[in-house]
Amino acid sequence: MALEQQIIIGESPVFLEVIEQTSRAAGHDRSVLVIGERGTGKELIASRLHFLSRRWEQNFVQVNCAALPDTLLESELFGHEAGSFTGATGKRVGRFEEADGGTLFLDEIASTSAAAQEKILRVTEYGTFQRVGSNKTLETDVRLIGATNIDLPSAADRGDFRHDLLDRLALDVITLPPLRERRSDIMLLAFHFGQKIAQERHWTSFPGFSSDMTEKLRDYSWPGNIRELKNVVERAVYYANTEFEAISSIIIDPFKSPYRPEAPLNLPADRPTIASETIEEVPKGPGDFQTRVEKYEKELLLDALRSNKYNQKRAAEYLKLNYHQFRHQLKKHGLKSA
Ligand SMILES: Nc1ncnc2c1ncn2[C@@H]1O[C@H](COP(=O)(O)OP(=O)(O)OP(=O)(O)O)[C@@H](O)[C@H]1O
Ligand SMILES: [Mg+2]
Repeated sequence: MALEQQIIIGESPVFLEVIEQTSRAAGHDRSVLVIGERGTGKELIASRLHFLSRRWEQNFVQVNCAALPDTLLESELFGHEAGSFTGATGKRVGRFEEADGGTLFLDEIASTSAAAQEKILRVTEYGTFQRVGSNKTLETDVRLIGATNIDLPSAADRGDFRHDLLDRLALDVITLPPLRERRSDIMLLAFHFGQKIAQERHWTSFPGFSSDMTEKLRDYSWPGNIRELKNVVERAVYYANTEFEAISSIIIDPFKSPYRPEAPLNLPADRPTIASETIEEVPKGPGDFQTRVEKYEKELLLDALRSNKYNQKRAAEYLKLNYHQFRHQLKKHGLKSA
């Protein structure tokens, strides 16, 4: 499959370190795990790993493991024989076979079933597998790259991911920093995306961003990382009226509206969106210990949510709780509907 290598932008020290690690990892032929929040560039790094490797002229095959139900994913990965399950009319060559000699990129690898994980482990260890509905053992020479935005070691501790596969994949782990940890790259990326849209609009040049807008872009927390920045910049440049004035208007949250439907959290209707709210003071003096502790806990949860723009994962980190504990607390305090 011929795929173009995309330009990768970034000069911050943390990002350059990742790029260096990627080049080093491309040189060996082992499995690599690419970890990072959504929109941090996992797919881009995976394709770079392939194109810098000795397999670059061979196939780079991508599968999004979250996009298919378990049984279909197994047949997608390993292929099937005709009639091996309802709907399997013809024989099908799987992605492991298609990637023979090249690289197989398993995106959202944490979404694979235990059965699929067992088969993946076998391929990475022995290079062998069987099509669904067949006993015949086939061989393939594939380099595996897995990507995920969840913490795989905790998933393995919970029993949601096989420890042995994790150990096998974790020979090399590349963790991408979120955009808020590489703020010096924000404007570099914003210019890059802005210039692309300016070109699409047939502008003679890209006027750049006003100082207000630059400040806004630099200060925002970018929970959706580079993808979010890309979308915000694209929207701003598309809406701009002229190519002769610096871009001065951006909409970071296009869903912001007084008519926006309620979020799934049972938060107070008057919830503020500003991060500066302080925790309500617990009154001193006599009173029911349990009730007051609960009130305090609830305030801590609300404060963590507000301060993290209602992103539950980050709110959990903010309180140094794991995601599971945090969700449990939300439920306990009636802040979570399900
Ligand atoms: N360093 C970079 N330079 C230029 N563009 C980038 C960079 N990193 C990411 N992008 C762009 O940002 C978008 C998101 O990147 P990508 O799809 O690789 O992220 P991801 O981590 O796989 O996200 P998700 O977890 O949502 O699948 C893409 O359009 C990609 O081209
Ligand atoms: Mg991706």
